[in-house]
Amino acid sequence: MADALGEILLTEEQIRRRVAELGRQISADYAGLELTLVCVLRGAVVFLADLIRHLSLPASIDFMAISSYGSDTQSTGVVRIVKDLDDSIQHRHVLVVEDIVDTGLTLAYLLDNLRNRSATSVRVCALLDKPARRRVPITLDYVGFTLPDCFVVGYGLDFAQRYRGLPHVVVLSPEEVCPRG
Ligand code: IMP
Repeated sequence: MADALGEILLTEEQIRRRVAELGRQISADYAGLELTLVCVLRGAVVFLADLIRHLSLPASIDFMAISSYGSDTQSTGVVRIVKDLDDSIQHRHVLVVEDIVDTGLTLAYLLDNLRNRSATSVRVCALLDKPARRRVPITLDYVGFTLPDCFVVGYGLDFAQRYRGLPHVVVLSPEEVCPRG
């Protein structure tokens, strides 16, 4: 399986160190408060599991799953909630935990939806950011790594449900050359 993949962009060690840093930064920023981590299924599960172990504050976890409508949804950003949160986020500090932000359309929809639920605050922590393809302006409060415009898998991210268990982040196609900024 591994020999069908391309260049390793982020090693296990790089990810481990950065996730620990993010955990420390989030813990400092929210010191004295309680957090609700909203994990966007399914790709962010691995990141969430590591991140929460680096938080030194009380944090609950909830999950949301969304899926695109039809074939042209990636261009329209029309998505549908497949699984909603189990608990109310009213008066809670919410941190959305995302795997990767590409066009930003999915996250824009999700944030719009969450911001109508009377949370005290709603912020975003994305492990990976691919700003080259952004179609809507989005503020990412915490970003693990900024990547070039390449399709990547591993550390939770999939292609057709494969490769989520890889400990590193790797370019899917062996032929793809990632532009460097
Ligand atoms: P956006 O709405 O275009 O920002 O898409 C975000 C979603 O697309 C992510 O949560 C992923 O599920 C998926 N996605 C975007 N880029 C990649 C990638 O490089 N690898 C795996 N999934 C990706």
